[in-house]
Amino acid sequence: MKSISNRFYLDYNATSPLAESVQDWISKGDFSFGNPSSAHQTGKKAKKLINETREYLYSLFDVKEDDFHLFFHSGASEGINTLVRGFFLNAFKNQKQADYYFFDTDHSCVVNQREEIKAFGHDFYPFPVDELGMPKIDQIKKGKHSCGLLNFTWVNNESGVVWPLYKALEFKEKLGCAVHVDSVQSVGKIRDWNKLESDLDAYTFSAHKFGGMKGIGFSFMKKDFPYECFVRGGGQQAALRSGTENVMGIYSIKLALEDLQRNQNFDETEFVHREFESWLLSKIGDKGKIAGYGNVSRNMTTTYLVLPGNRSDIMMTALDLAGVEVSAGSACSSGILKPSRILKGMGFSEKEAGEGIRFSFSPTFTKEDLPALFEKLDKVLSKYL
Ligand SMILES: Cc1ncc(COP(=O)(O)O)c(C=O)c1O
Repeated sequence: MKSISNRFYLDYNATSPLAESVQDWISKGDFSFGNPSSAHQTGKKAKKLINETREYLYSLFDVKEDDFHLFFHSGASEGINTLVRGFFLNAFKNQKQADYYFFDTDHSCVVNQREEIKAFGHDFYPFPVDELGMPKIDQIKKGKHSCGLLNFTWVNNESGVVWPLYKALEFKEKLGCAVHVDSVQSVGKIRDWNKLESDLDAYTFSAHKFGGMKGIGFSFMKKDFPYECFVRGGGQQAALRSGTENVMGIYSIKLALEDLQRNQNFDETEFVHREFESWLLSKIGDKGKIAGYGNVSRNMTTTYLVLPGNRSDIMMTALDLAGVEVSAGSACSSGILKPSRILKGMGFSEKEAGEGIRFSFSPTFTKEDLPALFEKLDKVLSKYL
């Protein structure tokens, strides 16, 4: 049962609660507090937890240590900034200009680097998507330079639209560039979340999206990826990202992913999502729309509902009071809601882009939870229809 104190937390794309195994581990208080770079037993104990996690991740994602580096950072915003800036700084140092490719619907940690990249003398190219949230293939055009980096978002955080990795391979070929895959929203939310393409160049994940701790994430990066280290210091993690490692956070990644592997039931998740959307569609009739509906390539946990004529923040507050926690789209640090860039990218008007609410389910939400959820939703949505 995923309702906590008779409340439904349906904002898993923003963040997830700690996995039970992580909570148990924390409550035991049996931590290795040592500095993993220290040569004594206490330091070695901490290092062992990092090494166990590294081995587990290489094996889980079937990635070869000979081909890819693996490094930990404070989460995907840092990881993606590090990889993108590392790439363009490397080009700059080698007196090369390069092209930064991304999509209008990418996360702000991808998009908001564009001006900085330009300040280093490079160019950027934002590509559009269609109304189903898929890339507009005919508008994907090579930039001026022979060197470039594309960000490819595997699962969109707002719409839940999934871009299969073979498309990233096609774009890589067409643009002749390196590809970084923003993999933050894939874990547990699509069936093949641990099947990476070894011909793509880098992948970034964030632990708080799948039951690990906040402030920790990891990236796989091809060994020949042009990269200048961004966080410099004592040379930890093979000098890819300096700083004393967040050992507890790192180990929470392993515990949370093991938990997910044990508990996920994709058939159930898919069933719940289908039931939820068919209930929602029959409730809203022609008064609203689910973004990207009709696209067969959407994930099993996200539904972005647009109800024209109703402001997102007002609907969210009413749902919150009724015990259903959702968001307007991506979590916003200022608390001030702006029209969704993702909805606009998918062809919704400026006004409609401020009239969406995103339901994002836990991959372990069960069908037993649905009747109570429908009862709560029914009362609130009826006011807006
Ligand atoms: C697709 C995507 N990329 C990147 C991020 C940034 O992740 P973090 O919160 O770990 O910085 C998020 C977080 O919402 C996301 O959904």
